[in-house]
Amino acid sequence: MSPEPAARFTLPHPRGESVLWGGSGALAAAAGELREWVAGRRLFLLSTPRVRALHGAAPAPVRAAAAAVVELSAPDGESAKEPAEAIRLWREMAAHGGRRDSRLLCLGGGSLTDLGGFVAGGFLRGIEVAHLPTTLLAQVDAAIGGKTGVDLPEGKNLVGLFHHPALVVADTAWLGTLPREALRCGLVEAIKMAALLAPELLARIERDLDRLLAGDATALGPVVAAAAGVKAAVVARDPEERGERALLNFGHTLGHALEAAAGFGALAHGDAVAWGIRFALDLARERGWAADLAPRLTALLDRLGVPPLPPLDGAAVLAALQRDKKATEAGVRWVLPERLGQGRWGIVLPPAGIAARLGPFLAAGAAPARGL
Ligand SMILES: NC(=O)c1ccc[n+]([C@@H]2O[C@H](COP(=O)([O-])OP(=O)(O)OC[C@H]3O[C@@H](n4cnc5c(N)ncnc54)[C@H](O)[C@@H]3O)[C@@H](O)[C@H]2O)c1
Repeated sequence: MSPEPAARFTLPHPRGESVLWGGSGALAAAAGELREWVAGRRLFLLSTPRVRALHGAAPAPVRAAAAAVVELSAPDGESAKEPAEAIRLWREMAAHGGRRDSRLLCLGGGSLTDLGGFVAGGFLRGIEVAHLPTTLLAQVDAAIGGKTGVDLPEGKNLVGLFHHPALVVADTAWLGTLPREALRCGLVEAIKMAALLAPELLARIERDLDRLLAGDATALGPVVAAAAGVKAAVVARDPEERGERALLNFGHTLGHALEAAAGFGALAHGDAVAWGIRFALDLARERGWAADLAPRLTALLDRLGVPPLPPLDGAAVLAALQRDKKATEAGVRWVLPERLGQGRWGIVLPPAGIAARLGPFLAAGAAPARGL
């Protein structure tokens, strides 16, 4: 079966428009636009040692179109998002003659695109950035939509800004070197989006899950393209998360707290979100919601094979929840599913009720038999 061609979307936002390419052959399809974007400019090329070893530095024609190329590097994984990395990169860019019209091109996973977007948004009060996301999670979610940030010891993504990329090129060819764990984590983000915003995408993921988890490029292409389209549409309607964009945080309220309590990097982001979805489903069911969705999502998460939670202290998770950047003076805000294709955001729940549920939930999640 020949793969479906890459899809092109545009995402209008308050400062212009992002162009998104997603699917099989996206890089070749976007090559002209990428070359035009760097033509005659100083190009800062940010990647990580692992990504560079697996996929090279960046497509040669894009490099050739730039006036000068400066290679930058950041660590693999979540440690890229230490604020010290941003400062180091700003200084390197300044030392290498970075100007307002210089370009930053990021080749890597979501940690790298979060860092790169933040660096571009802060440097000289903002230079243009483009992302070549190389993980499924970054292709379906992290690289799209302009949210950037770095972590503090006190919490994940606590410092950041909105800075939309000029271009995002999500080519499924890069996914061929991803381990199954990374594919699983990316699928969790696609599932969260599909459950509340795109029922037809959820059905496709259910149908193709085994092939998706095995990294089958023919199955991955349409999911990357569809998820990019869903995210672009919701971000275009609500670019700075004043309303419905918050639906994309489904599973993230508890997910981020689990990551913080486990220590950044100890629990993969997608796995943490999978546990967060399960907790949000419990909260929804208590309200009589999600009767159609909960069994489907639970079955899908079971099939993903998410590992059990590490042993976590309930008080530490609760403290991390209360530091969540989406918390207001009134309390922590939750996204809960009402039914397939429909969720509610901004739901403030009393901390005492959450505290009472958290202990048993964490204990059950840590038991080996209860891996999702
Ligand atoms: N900005 C947003 O809207 C948004 C949305 C969702 C998640 N995120 C963020 O994304 C981050 C997670 O991103 P991630 O899951 O992509 O992980 P990651 O970027 O930390 O990458 C995980 C590992 O995969 C490696 N890798 C990257 N591409 C590879 C490839 N093609 N083959 C083999 N290995 C490869 C990386 O080097 C790294 O070691 C989190 O920090 C999360 O907060 C941001």
